[in-house]
Parts: sequence; structure tokens; C-alpha cells
Amino acid sequence: MPLFWPEKKNIAQVDFDKLPRHIAMIMDGNGRWAKKRGLPRTAGHAAGAETFRTIATYCKEIGLEYLTVYAFSTENWRRSAEEVSAIMDLLKRYLLEAIGKMERDRVKMEFFGDLSPLAPELRELCRRTREISKGYDGCQVNICLNYGGRDELVRAAKAFAQDCVEGRADPNHLSQERFGGYLFSRGVPDPDLIIRPSGELRLSNFLLWQCAYAEFYFTDVLWPDFSKEELHRAIAAYQGRSRRFGGV
Ligand code: FPP
Repeated sequence: MPLFWPEKKNIAQVDFDKLPRHIAMIMDGNGRWAKKRGLPRTAGHAAGAETFRTIATYCKEIGLEYLTVYAFSTENWRRSAEEVSAIMDLLKRYLLEAIGKMERDRVKMEFFGDLSPLAPELRELCRRTREISKGYDGCQVNICLNYGGRDELVRAAKAFAQDCVEGRADPNHLSQERFGGYLFSRGVPDPDLIIRPSGELRLSNFLLWQCAYAEFYFTDVLWPDFSKEELHRAIAAYQGRSRRFGGV
């Protein structure tokens, strides 16, 4: 695995041989970033999409196995039609670009969330990126799109109940592992580190099941200003923690 030691002395030192396997990020603060500059909120999302490109590319370069980002929540439909459409357009543009580079980068793309209410063109791009990349062995990028943690749990409960009714499952044999198989994140290890920029200290319905033993890193930096250095700080903080998973 390549080693990229930060050259500047004031940058957090990261042990790249002991990276978390899975980092999840709440890309928050785009609107405030734009407001501070007198720009429309949509400009903040465009800047946020650029930051996502930089961070996802870097995560791939350092050999991260899984990156999950919160791009659009089940609650984000409450925003203006203009803002929703701008976010969807940024996603479309990103997926079109990603399709061109996937084979070279070996990035595997997945989507967590109910894609059925999305516009057919975006849904088709999600299907294509998922299909093209399903056998790739590089970093797996999971984009949470029309995703909500509670919605995911309710869907899982319904699917399990349906399997019970139809004789494919037995409530007496339900375990945490089996339940995990009903979630959008099936097959993906739980996040080790969850990063939330923008100074908000909450989870906002993100990966409610999967976050059970995650380490959290909060920073005041707004998502469009989030940088590789900030990522180093987050990983260094994570590496300084003692994870006991309920043990001693
Ligand atoms: C939260 O910031 C951000 C979102 C709801 C949208 C995130 C979307 C992108 C970064 C662009 C598309 C994504 C990809 C993967 C290409 P906010 O708007 O709530 O910020 P605020 O709290 O400052 O208002």
C-alpha cells in the first residue's frame, strides 16, 4: 500500500498502515459556506461536490477500503425544488464522470437508499455505475441517496416480516448478523470512523444501526473547505482512540 506521509510539520501524523477500514462522512455546511460568500446555496453544493471528488480520490490513493457519504437524505426533499434539482444534477454529473474512470480506478460504487423516487435518468446512472463496478476490488464508495437510518430500519423490518410470512425466515433465528443482511449496507463492514464537519454535533439519521461502535470526529470546518489535512486530523484522532467494543 502506498505511503503518503504529510510533509508539513503541523499536519497530523497518520499511520497509513493502520487506517480505519471504513470512513463515513456527513457532507454538511454547503449552504453556510455559500451564504458566507454571498452566493446561492446551490454554489455551496457545487463546491461540496468538488470536495467530495478530492476526498474520494485521496481515499482511493491511500488504500481506504470503504467510503460512505451522505449525499441526500429522506428529509432533504423538504428543500426548494431548485436546490433539490441542483443536488441531483451534481450527482448525475459525478456519476457520468465516474463511469469514464471506473475501470482504471477499480472503484466499486454502491448506493444506500430508496432510489425509486429519483428521476429515471439518475436512477439509470446509479444502476449502470453499480453494474459496471460490481466486480471491482478498489475502494468501495457508498453514496447515501434518498437515505435515512430510520427508513432503512423500517424497510429491513418489513422485508424480514415478509420473509417470515412466506416461510423464508424464522423470527426465532433472527440474529444481528441476519438482520444486517436486510439493510442497504449488507456486506459492508460497519464504519470505524464517522466524520461530521460544520460544527453540528448530531447524527441526523445517518447509519443508525451501523454506527453502534463507530468513533466520531466533529470539526467546525464547513464541508466545501474540508481538505486532505482535515482528513489526516480525523484519522490521527481515530488512531489515538482506544476501541474496546464493550470489552475492557
Ligand atoms: C448538507 O449541507 C449537504 C447536502 C444536503 C447535499 C450534499 C450534496 C453534495 C455535496 C453534492 C453532490 C454529491 C456528490 C456525491 C457528487 P447543507 O446544505 O445542509 O448545509 P447547511 O447546513 O450549511 O445549510
